[in-house]
Amino acid sequence: MHRIAVIAGDGTGPEVIAEGLKVLKAVARKKGFRYEAKEFDFGGDRYLRTGEVLPKGAVDELRKFDAIYLGAVGHPDVAPGVLEKGLLLRLRFELDQFINLRPVKLYPGVDGPLKNKRPEDIDFVVVRENTEGLYTGMGGLQYKNTPQEVATQIMCDTRFGVERCVRYAFDLTRKRARTRTVAVGAKDLAEVGKPDASGRVRFVHRERGAMTGKLLEKSDAGAQLEVAGMLTLCAKTNVLTFASDLWWRTFNEVGENDYPEIFRDYAHVDATCMWMVKNPEWFDVIVTNNMFGDIITDLGAMIQGGLGIAAGGNIHPGGLSMFEPIGGSAPKYTGKNVINPLAAICAVGMLLEEVGESEAARSVENAVMDVTATKLKSLAAGKMGYGTKEVGDLVVAALS
Ligand code: IPM
Ligand code: MN
Repeated sequence: MHRIAVIAGDGTGPEVIAEGLKVLKAVARKKGFRYEAKEFDFGGDRYLRTGEVLPKGAVDELRKFDAIYLGAVGHPDVAPGVLEKGLLLRLRFELDQFINLRPVKLYPGVDGPLKNKRPEDIDFVVVRENTEGLYTGMGGLQYKNTPQEVATQIMCDTRFGVERCVRYAFDLTRKRARTRTVAVGAKDLAEVGKPDASGRVRFVHRERGAMTGKLLEKSDAGAQLEVAGMLTLCAKTNVLTFASDLWWRTFNEVGENDYPEIFRDYAHVDATCMWMVKNPEWFDVIVTNNMFGDIITDLGAMIQGGLGIAAGGNIHPGGLSMFEPIGGSAPKYTGKNVINPLAAICAVGMLLEEVGESEAARSVENAVMDVTATKLKSLAAGKMGYGTKEVGDLVVAALS
């Protein structure tokens, strides 16, 4: 029995969550698992009524559940930041959901903004660190409202926090098992060992250290290797010479020691944005800090067709995780039956995967793909060719 806490939240949150729960109910019946969903009324309206975002004991109450399903927070009558910090960020931190997992996948039939890019070109995952970096709230103001005012906002990264995030990303890359060919140019290639019986070699990248792969070709220009997957570290080592250096060293140490068959790729965050638009097919898994992850996943959402389809998970592996559509509460669409529920439905798929219902998770994702491929005119609110509820019904009908 899976116990699921539901926080529908503000604006269009309740509408999209209703469709997600509809799909959950249908897939549970189909796949024969049991769950219990309990709704919590946390969000803007409750805050306006009571003056508190999360009542005393709320977090401990939530700890009794196996997963949290969150709609959206953000209310036009509540100052920006209050609900975001008081609910979303608070739960991420207190429940130590140190991974923010955001798949970027162009589903069939979706008319994305990138010309000539097809579903096979846009299919990667961003692993965003979710409890550190610029989000800890460290820093402050000094000499406020004087000409000498000083503001600091500290990017706080720890070896512990970076390492657990990087390990999660390597594990995920291994699990995806997207074999690929990489070229290492002569100037980066410090050493290539002798192939073993199956053609595998140990090779040393001058900056990133040792890795392994199947040697396909070696010449004066460098080497072509087949590797078991690729993890890209997205950082800014040329400027953040402390914080990104910690990421860089941790990434290479952990990779070299425990995941040598995964190719270690690196891109500065600005270049990552460029590649996401120019060559999204390059990426397999990207690992990055909290702030960069926040920014690049909005770009990711756009290249997969918009916030109507983008879902994410705030994950504490083996613990209590929280799944949400990435988009906000979209107050102007509230109550009009026009908002796209697919992101919320995809979040149900991710939730099911995390609680161990992989087959049901696949079924939900396949049904969503079926609906984007054969039914929806667009993913944009009001332009789908169907209402919010009808899209939920279409997904239910497409479940296999
Ligand atoms: C997100 C959001 C949040 C973040 C905000 C609402 C605090 O943008 O989930 O990406 O910055 O993490
Ligand atoms: Mn964001």
